[in-house]
Amino acid sequence: MKTLLIVAHAPSPNTLALRDAVARGAGHPDIAGVSVRVLSPFEAGAQDVLAADAILLGTTENLGYMSGALKDFFDRIYYPVLEQKQGMPCALWVRAGHDGTGTCRAVQTIVTGLRWSWVQPPVVWRGTWQDSFVADAETLGMTLAAGLESGIF
Ligand SMILES: Cc1cc2nc3c(=O)[nH]c(=O)nc-3n(C[C@H](O)[C@H](O)[C@H](O)COP(=O)(O)O)c2cc1C
Repeated sequence: MKTLLIVAHAPSPNTLALRDAVARGAGHPDIAGVSVRVLSPFEAGAQDVLAADAILLGTTENLGYMSGALKDFFDRIYYPVLEQKQGMPCALWVRAGHDGTGTCRAVQTIVTGLRWSWVQPPVVWRGTWQDSFVADAETLGMTLAAGLESGIF
């Protein structure tokens, strides 16, 4: 059994819907070989990352940057996992009111330092809320979990 860790900041009803949809997709009943853990960045720590086989990060864009919650997570786990988790598959989603590029750039810089391995480009849901974001989020979770189960990553 492999473990997919989802670390998501979800401070609003829309972002909670995205987080739940990602988790629902990752937990699809056909994907039996993957255990999914969903934590807020404030709950997640180095032990959770060390125990994971892949990580899916989710954040809002606030003031042109990732949420303070996700940055706090990185600040706490960076050195404790640096040596052991190089190459870990990772992906990112961002919910942004109108942009998202600053957040993607910032997370990419940190992930480069950690030497995690991107499995796909960041997904940015920007602009006015659309219900279709939820289906996209479910697909994102399913794609990650299915790839992890099949050993593609
Ligand atoms: C203090 C604050 C700063 C924000 N800064 C940005 C920003 O720099 N770029 C952006 O695209 N959206 C920004 N937003 C919008 C949020 O990303 C967006 O409201 C959040 O992802 C929640 O999405 P929702 O409104 O659909 O629930 C900001 C929101 C707040 C409250």
